[in-house]
Amino acid sequence: MIHIAIDGPAASGKTSLAHALARRFGCLLVETGKMYRAVALGVERGFTLDQIEITADHNGHTMLNGEDVSSLLQTPALDQASSKIATRPEVRERLVTLQQQIAAQRDVVMEGRDIGTVVLPHATVKLFLEASPQERAARRAGERDGAEFSAILTDIIARDLRDSTRAIAPLNPAIDAIIIDTDQKSLVEVICEAIDLVEVRLGGHRSSD
Ligand code: C5P
Repeated sequence: MIHIAIDGPAASGKTSLAHALARRFGCLLVETGKMYRAVALGVERGFTLDQIEITADHNGHTMLNGEDVSSLLQTPALDQASSKIATRPEVRERLVTLQQQIAAQRDVVMEGRDIGTVVLPHATVKLFLEASPQERAARRAGERDGAEFSAILTDIIARDLRDSTRAIAPLNPAIDAIIIDTDQKSLVEVICEAIDLVEVRLGGHRSSD
């Protein structure tokens, strides 16, 4: 089984890298941040935690009570609400169980904050992406139309602080994670570096070309 864990702070490029690695190695892509965002969306819609059921379809899309909400999750309000809800032990417990169940059945590239440390402690390879808050805010501003750099930077710094100081599963590289500093690198450079690292770890075995 191939389990590739990618962790790192908000807007560090995890999702773009995860897409590329999932394609390259024939794995299911699981974006765990979307699951926390979907819980926050459920709360925003007036459900209690007990009334919220998060699942993933066979493409890895995130479902909230049976509805595919994958395309509704990238909003500034859910950036903050998801990181607040992610501090709740009962939420983490349920989502970690779901993530582990998915990985038990499939080769996966899974990205988030605690994949290498908690969800997949025995992952084939663990990558941890780093970039300065300024660089990450600039990237996110480029992705979201009309978004203002300084507001995004403030949000990212608040989220970093909450994610890395929470009591359960704080954002940290696993002891055996390979840290990739992406500040001075293009996405293509990061992808090539990561593919090389994964191939070395897989012993040169290529599952797709
Ligand atoms: O990765 P993304 O920005 O979509 O994640 C949204 C929020 O969900 C993060 O700020 C973080 O608080 C939380 N999260 C988490 N553990 C994960 C993935 C995301 O706590 N594995």
